[in-house]
Amino acid sequence: MKTPVDTFRQSLGRVVGNGAYNHEFIGRFYELFIGGSHRIADMFKDTDMAAQHAMLHDSLSFLSDYALSGKASPQLQNIARVHGRSRRNIPPELYDVWVDSLVEAVSEFDPEFNDEVELAWRLALAPGITYMKFMHRRA
Ligand code: HEM
Repeated sequence: MKTPVDTFRQSLGRVVGNGAYNHEFIGRFYELFIGGSHRIADMFKDTDMAAQHAMLHDSLSFLSDYALSGKASPQLQNIARVHGRSRRNIPPELYDVWVDSLVEAVSEFDPEFNDEVELAWRLALAPGITYMKFMHRRA
């Protein structure tokens, strides 16, 4: 049976191509995510966005791996630490803006985008996003 994570990975493949990395897609995501809020734009004002683009791409695998294994990889643990209260202190509610921006970018880049694909992205990312929010106070 095809799981939501399978549907998510197939969609991701259509969006980024074969193992590659789609600058336009990631660029569009950041445009939506950062462009939609002064509060978020402020957090990224000193950020090297080229480096951030590469990290985002890898992060999508760490998040979806978590949906399959239920175990945070060392990389995901590190990302949670960086965003946690004692470091960047990212407010948990901003993760919903993050997912919405990502889904919006996918809708523009996946030619097969539909409700099933959208739900698959949200389901595949949800456990990892929950982990990030959960770790906010603890990391
Ligand atoms: C699950 C969602 C997210 C993932 C996977 C993610 C991933 C990452 C990664 C991999 C880094 C680099 C960490 C490092 O320096 O080692 C980073 C940095 C950062 N993230 Fe996120 N992030 C997420 C959500 C957010 C949200 C919601 C915000 C809110 C605005 C945010 C703001 C930042 C900031 C400000 C940095 C530091 C950038 C810099 O180095 O200047 N992130 N993120």
